[in-house]
Amino acid sequence: MNNQSDALVFFGATGDLAYKKIFPALYSMVRHGHLNVPVVGVAKAGWKLEQLTARARDSIEHHGTFDEATFARLAGLLRYVDGDYNDAATFAELRKQLDQAKHPAHYLAIPPSMFPVVVKQLCESGCAKGARVIVEKPFGRSLETAQSLNQILLTCFSEPSIFRIDHFLGKGPVQNLLYFRFANSFLEPIWNSHYVSSVQITMAESFGVEGRGAFYEEAGCIRDVVQNHLLQILANMAMEAPAATDAESIRDEKAKVLKSIEPLSARHVVRGQFLGYRQEKGVAANSHVETYAALKLEINSWRWQGVPFYIRAGKCLPVTCTEVTAEFRRPPAVWTTKRPPRNVLRFRIQPDVVIGLQAMTKTPDEEMVGEPIELLATHRPHGDEMDAYERLLGDAMRGDTTLFAREDYVEAAWRIVEPVLGDETPIHFYEANTWGPPEAERLIAPAHWREPVVDPPAKS
Ligand code: BG6
Repeated sequence: MNNQSDALVFFGATGDLAYKKIFPALYSMVRHGHLNVPVVGVAKAGWKLEQLTARARDSIEHHGTFDEATFARLAGLLRYVDGDYNDAATFAELRKQLDQAKHPAHYLAIPPSMFPVVVKQLCESGCAKGARVIVEKPFGRSLETAQSLNQILLTCFSEPSIFRIDHFLGKGPVQNLLYFRFANSFLEPIWNSHYVSSVQITMAESFGVEGRGAFYEEAGCIRDVVQNHLLQILANMAMEAPAATDAESIRDEKAKVLKSIEPLSARHVVRGQFLGYRQEKGVAANSHVETYAALKLEINSWRWQGVPFYIRAGKCLPVTCTEVTAEFRRPPAVWTTKRPPRNVLRFRIQPDVVIGLQAMTKTPDEEMVGEPIELLATHRPHGDEMDAYERLLGDAMRGDTTLFAREDYVEAAWRIVEPVLGDETPIHFYEANTWGPPEAERLIAPAHWREPVVDPPAKS
C-alpha cells in the first residue's frame, strides 16, 4: 500500500503521551506543512472537542514555541470521539468522523492491554480497511506476549501496514550512526574485530521515574530501554551494509545482527536500583525491579566475534546523556614507554550531538612525546529540528516502515533479554547521582566504563 494516509486517528487522546509528545509533534507537522488531513482523537473521558483542543493548546504552549495561526490550522483538523473501547458505538462514531477517508492511520497510544479490543473493534467497524496501525512501545513484555500481540495485529493488518514505534529510531543522531558508517569509506576497513576491541553504549538519565512508578514496576530498565532503544543503537553500530536503502534491506540487516547475538546469561548482567526508588508512588516497598542495568553482549559474526558490546542504562545517574564509544586496539608501544592509550571513536546522541576521535599527537616540544587529543565535530540542536515523533508519524502516514521495528527484529530482541528479565539476577543498590552499583565494574574489568561528561547548557 503506497497511499498517503488521509486521516490520523490517535487512541489515548487525553493521556500522558498525547500531552507530552503527540500534540507537539502534530503542531510541528502543521508548521512544516506536513499535515493537512483530519486528526481524530479517541478516548473515554466524557470530553467534547473543545476540551481536546484546550488540552492540545496547553500541551503545545508547554512544550515549545506557540504561534496562534499555526495552532488554528491544527485545531481546524482536530476531531474527537468520546467512548468506551469495548463499545461498538464508539467505532461506529469513529467511522462517521473518518468520513471519506480511505487510508486512515490508527495510532494506539494506549496501554498494551487495550490493543486486542481496539484492533478487534477497528476490524469489525470497517475502520481498519485500507488502514495502517501505529503501535506504541512496549511491544509485549516477553517473547511470548510480543508474538501474541503480533498475531492479534495480523488478524486485521498486514505486516507492511504495522508500524511498531521505537522513538529512538526517529532521532536524527541515531540515524546518523548508520549514515556515518556507510557514507564514509575510511571506517569500513577497521570496523571489525581486527581493530575494534570493545564498544560501549551508555544511556544515562539524571532523573528518576518521575511519577511513573507503577509503570516502572511492570517494566524495569531492561524492558523499558534496553530491549528496544539500546539494542536499536547496537544494531546500527554493528549491522552489515544493506544491499539498498529501502526499508526491507535495512531491516533485514538489523534483524540479522540481533539473530547473531546469544541470549544473555546471568553472569553478563548487573541490575541496580537507586536508593529511594522504593519510596516512589506505585512502587512496592520490597521491589526488586531494576532502575539500572549493565550488560555484556557478544555478536557471533565474522565481523564481531570476540568484541564485547557493553550496554549500560540507568535512572538517577550523574548526567543525562546517551553516548556510544568504540575503542580500538592499542598500537605497539614504540613512541611511549607505557601502554599507549587506545583510539576511541565517540558518538554522542544526546543532549548534544558529537562525533569525536580520540588520538595521540606529538607535543610541540623537541622530544617525540605525545599528548591525547580529540578531533571533534559538534552540533548543538537549534530547537527547530524535526522531533522523533514528528518524523515517525510522518513516515508512518507515508507508509515508510524503515524507522519501525519489524516483527522478526522485535522477537529477536526479546530472545536476547528474556533469560535475564525479572528476578533472575540479584539487585544491587546505588546512591542517586552515582554511576550505578559498583558491581557493574566487575562486568567490564579489566577495562572501565567511560563516563560521559556533559557541559552545562550554554547561556543565551
Ligand atoms: C522512554 C522510556 O521510552 O524513553 C523512558 O520509557 C525514558 O523511561 C525515555 O526516559 C527516554 O527518551 P528520550 O527521548 O527522552 O531520551
